[in-house]
Amino acid sequence: NSPLNFASPQLPRFVDDLVVMPSAAAGGLLVARESVHRYHRDLPVTRAWGYGPHINGPVLEAQSEVEARIGFRNELGRHVLAADVDTTMMGVGEADRVRPRMVVHLHGAPTRPDHDGHPMISWRPGATAQHRYDNRQEAATLWYHDHAMGITRLNVQAGLAGFYLVRDRFDTGRADNPLGLPAGDHELPLMIADRTFNADGTLQARQVVFLPQGGNQGGLWGDVAVVNGVAWPTHDVARGLYRLRLCNGANSRTFRLAFGNGMRFWVIGSDQGLLEHPEPITALTLVPGERADVLVDFGSLGDGEAVELCNVASNSIGNTLFMVPPLTSVMRFVARGRPMRTGAVPTRLRGRPGLPPALPKPAPPQRRRTMTLMWTANAAHSLPLPIRAMLLINNLGFMSDDVEVVRAGTVERWDIVNTLPFEHPIHIHLARFRVIGRRALNSAAYMAADPPPVDVDRRWAPPADRFVFGPTQPPEPAERGYKDTVHCPEDSVTSLLVEWPSASDLGFDPDAVIRVPAGAESVRMESAGGAHAGAGPRHQVHRGHHHTGIKGYVWHCHNLDHEDHDMMQRIRVKA
Ligand code: C2O
Ligand code: CU
Repeated sequence: NSPLNFASPQLPRFVDDLVVMPSAAAGGLLVARESVHRYHRDLPVTRAWGYGPHINGPVLEAQSEVEARIGFRNELGRHVLAADVDTTMMGVGEADRVRPRMVVHLHGAPTRPDHDGHPMISWRPGATAQHRYDNRQEAATLWYHDHAMGITRLNVQAGLAGFYLVRDRFDTGRADNPLGLPAGDHELPLMIADRTFNADGTLQARQVVFLPQGGNQGGLWGDVAVVNGVAWPTHDVARGLYRLRLCNGANSRTFRLAFGNGMRFWVIGSDQGLLEHPEPITALTLVPGERADVLVDFGSLGDGEAVELCNVASNSIGNTLFMVPPLTSVMRFVARGRPMRTGAVPTRLRGRPGLPPALPKPAPPQRRRTMTLMWTANAAHSLPLPIRAMLLINNLGFMSDDVEVVRAGTVERWDIVNTLPFEHPIHIHLARFRVIGRRALNSAAYMAADPPPVDVDRRWAPPADRFVFGPTQPPEPAERGYKDTVHCPEDSVTSLLVEWPSASDLGFDPDAVIRVPAGAESVRMESAGGAHAGAGPRHQVHRGHHHTGIKGYVWHCHNLDHEDHDMMQRIRVKA
């Protein structure tokens, strides 16, 4: 084996059937626990985690405007990826190998601060947290997943992730829905990720296996596609219209999905709900954490005809410098039977009687902010690849006191300046946003004009207007709606219109002190300057109510390996 441990055993594709994830009404108790799982016919069974008896979690069905209360109980045993728990990282300790922490975040929901899954608050085996979700939003494809500080990438990879579908009176999820969208067996939630396997069926969590602890190099790109927990599955479909609810559940890999026969499909929804009308496309980019709602007409295939869902992302054929192994295939569909008379692709999704309201015209921003995605210049924090990467936002560690403060009920323009030669998926909690567009950035000139300070935690986010060039790239078709996660390509500025909900929209105070529930722990950590100076972990763990009054939300890179290692910022939303 090469030290760059890219290679899973040779696994034939499309030999295992897709698992259709079970659905459950949002509510009750979900128990996070270990199960015995087989990813592929030719791999031995292995341990996996889920919010229930299987890997991942049930597809939770919630009703818009109807509150759901869900208990999440931690009954996890020894960590599935115990050897990869990195105790040099903030908030992480030896106990996480044997009694792992967890905390659940509902990605894409405007949630009360003490139910949002703040990474600094988590609970160990034996404890249960009650989460309350107001579901004050339109129908949308959300997902719930782990967010525990410093081990999110491992917990999610082990399986702690599931879909959460918000329904409303237009998108009911039933066959008689007013939009005429496919339902029942014709609606398929697909959680897409990439993994690398060892010959014994276990997962690899590090690409460079000889690195010691502290050697997390900031990304995990697998060479096998796993959909709903099955490696390269196949699925028999009827010859009619289907609705695929897609979520990129990978740690680091961006997928660009296309069918092997080049066939057209339609995107009808983005992260936060339906678009204005279906957009015909032949390829769809999905960064980690991002979702898309698409319609596919398998009626165009003959009886027994197969079509492959491929990955045509620019790095799908591999990138040695960034240790990205090739991955060009995702899954296969096989059409069966006689053509069905299923509904047609709707012409409009909004803005007509009987349909949801048209998307509002974006309001002008009241304030503009520049945010930088960067690599710290401080050698103590960041040694050259592949030893240790410390990627930051605005040159600030996660525990910097320089916390963004925004006003509830306002609209802001955010220019996300990616100075790095690789892409990042940026996710903002609580808010929703529209994509304005992207421009290419001369990163070298930008950084030379006003170099980032060597000291971590000194804010560095100079305006980039003088260093962009070329035309503004408009949002992609799949981005023409409300979103919560966005692709920030290398050397570019991605501009957003971020809408911060008001306290009255929300029905709660987004700046309330977070109460640490009984049985939970809060992690108090020193700023990056302390915790990462090479002296090992210097955080303190407080039990129960003994905490310092945490407030606010987070926003971060959704490359989970980046998020775990400080590419995450706190934000306060004040009335
Ligand atoms: Cu999907 Cu803060 O995460
Ligand atoms: Cu990143």
